[in-house]
Amino acid sequence: MIKFIIIDLMLICAYSSYTDLHVYQLEHATRVLEWTSGRTVCVAGFSSSKNEILELSLPLRLLAEQNKGLCAERDFKVVHGGFSEAPIHSLKHIPGTRFAVSSDGQSSSLLLWDLGGDDSDVIRRTGQIDIKCESLVGGQEGRKMAAPPSRCSEPKILHGATTNDLCTLLISSNVNSSCLSSACAVSEPLSCLQFLSEGVFVCGSVNGSVLEVDSRSPAPPTCHPAPLPSDSTAWSMDVCGGGLVVRSRASGHTVVSDLRKMDSRLAQAQVTASDGKNRGSLNVTWAPALQHHIALSGVNGLVQIYNTSLWGAELQPAHAQFEHRGHVVSSHEDDVITTSHAWHPERPRTLLSAASDASVHVWDWNHQSESSK
Ligand SMILES: *[C@@H]1O[C@H](CO)[C@@H](O)[C@H](O)[C@H]1NC(C)=O
Ligand SMILES: *[C@@H]1O[C@H](CO)[C@@H](O)[C@H](O)[C@H]1NC(C)=O
Ligand SMILES: *[C@@H]1O[C@H](CO)[C@@H](O)[C@H](O)[C@H]1NC(C)=O
Ligand SMILES: *[C@@H]1O[C@H](CO)[C@@H](O)[C@H](O)[C@H]1NC(C)=O
Repeated sequence: MIKFIIIDLMLICAYSSYTDLHVYQLEHATRVLEWTSGRTVCVAGFSSSKNEILELSLPLRLLAEQNKGLCAERDFKVVHGGFSEAPIHSLKHIPGTRFAVSSDGQSSSLLLWDLGGDDSDVIRRTGQIDIKCESLVGGQEGRKMAAPPSRCSEPKILHGATTNDLCTLLISSNVNSSCLSSACAVSEPLSCLQFLSEGVFVCGSVNGSVLEVDSRSPAPPTCHPAPLPSDSTAWSMDVCGGGLVVRSRASGHTVVSDLRKMDSRLAQAQVTASDGKNRGSLNVTWAPALQHHIALSGVNGLVQIYNTSLWGAELQPAHAQFEHRGHVVSSHEDDVITTSHAWHPERPRTLLSAASDASVHVWDWNHQSESSK
């Protein structure tokens, strides 16, 4: 079976739109694709029974800068591994440490994991944090988590399920969870939680509004409304370091705005990532190392890349710069959907994607192929 996958993917590669494409087959599908370094990534199952939690190293061939042909090592390798009795819906690595925190898709507790060091290949659960400030709304989607950008501060994580249920978790000698005084009077489930600097963070709610919170200031958070009137579908969003916000609605309508001027839309487009069947929500992310590019996945088996600097202020259909169809091509399932995607933190065109058939792909597209689109 694995052989066929590789042959199929080699066929895709033959169209030379990829610089690299490597596949890995997990036991269970993962929603977690969490970088622990530029060479290693964590994956974890979310089934109700026993789940693997693994730290994989990327294929050496992908990382080779020159003479890729001479590098035969094209497999992912398991460097650390363990098991979780609980499903893992999200996992956040705490920068500068070997710890990670997971959420089980409910909002009542978090698990703390020791990812293991050079002397051990085991990932161990070392703690459980029960959330006391649990809100009444939400809960299905689990808790969103964010880590501050730099490692100058104490190791900590911000987590929350809704806009009025945000807590910080300090990971020092003993774990200390404390909740912020209610950031917002309205309780809306979160679509995104992200730090802009040490004390300033942004949270997006599924209704499309964006809250900017300065945890060091007593002033109430700034709330920016959704860019479009509500149609009861969920928004996904991401903020990049430069303060650009991208918001995508399940219908495919995608809007770019600037945090400093949220009352206007910088650019918008109708993307084709949506299959119109409304099977859940899109997941949109900014490229960390390729200006103005976003990746979209979620409602079908594709991952699409768009260059938003080609978009204008008027709503128009947009063409994807690149489309990764690998999960659809290699899957035996008719209805395969991507469960997650993640940009490499430094390599501009490298992404990881995972799908419902438990496949994980790492790929690097060949930008010369863009001109043919
Ligand atoms: C937990 O953290 C809060 C806020 O940083 C602090 O006020 C409190 O003293 C800490 N508690 C313990 C037991 O360390
Ligand atoms: C959306 O959620 C925010 C909380 O983040 C709330 O303040 C706002 O009233 C909500 N808007 C709508 C239209 O429901
Ligand atoms: C994205 O589009 C802009 C505007 O046309 C262009 O200048 C830029 O080179 C494009 N970026 C890439 C990486 O192709
Ligand atoms: C998008 O995917 C990332 C991981 O790839 C995950 O952390 C995030 O929660 C997802 N967002 C949505 C709205 O599904």
